[in-house]
Amino acid sequence: MDSLLNHQKEMISAAERFCKSELENDATGHDWWHIHRVVQMARRLAREENANCFICTMAALLHDIADEKLNDSKESGLRKVSDWFEGQPMEDEERQHIMEIISTMSYNAGANPPMRSLEGKVVQDADRLDAIGAIAIARTFLYAGWKGHPIHDPHLPPRDNMTPGEYRHDKSTAMNHFHEKLLKLKDRVNTAAARRMAEERHRYMEQYVERFYQEWEGQV
Ligand code: ADP
Ligand code: NI
Repeated sequence: MDSLLNHQKEMISAAERFCKSELENDATGHDWWHIHRVVQMARRLAREENANCFICTMAALLHDIADEKLNDSKESGLRKVSDWFEGQPMEDEERQHIMEIISTMSYNAGANPPMRSLEGKVVQDADRLDAIGAIAIARTFLYAGWKGHPIHDPHLPPRDNMTPGEYRHDKSTAMNHFHEKLLKLKDRVNTAAARRMAEERHRYMEQYVERFYQEWEGQV
């Protein structure tokens, strides 16, 4: 925060208030504490990668407000954010950069092109790191519960090669989500700083998945 100018700090506080009011009742794992973790991680990665800390902080704060799962459509979600920007004294270029990041950083079954800017790469990595490891396991079961999905169903076919459309609308289980997405994420982080952490968290998650199936089969 030290390297930020006063007007930037004020804008960050305003974005925090906006984000808290939008996501305070979220029960899908996209709640304020997810945002908080992503902001902290984005700042840490920004320092290591020499990215613009203000842009990374703002994009991390606003990144899930427009999430398709939490809005009628991606467009209406993005409008919510651009409407909020109307009242903020921000330069056009910065606003466009932040809007570009939050509208393109989603996983989308791995189908989105790479992020254009370093700040986009940093914020996407921070979000992805929160989807790998111990906290990610908790978020996945929380999300599955919110959707009414079971924890596991051995009769459902594997879903690890789906198109974005199938990925979004198909029935899933919490355990399937590890295969369709979470275990693939470590190979899809952008920065060297994030990759080290992703690998460590990935190993933890792999052990968990292995143990889950052992218990399911009554082996341990
Ligand atoms: P992104 O922000 O990259 O588009 P999502 O919002 O789809 O990612 O996912 C964020 C987290 O929400 C996932 O890492 C996972 O923990 C949880 N989640 C999303 N979709 C599912 C699902 N179908 N089943 C279980 N958990 C899910
Ligand atoms: Ni997120």
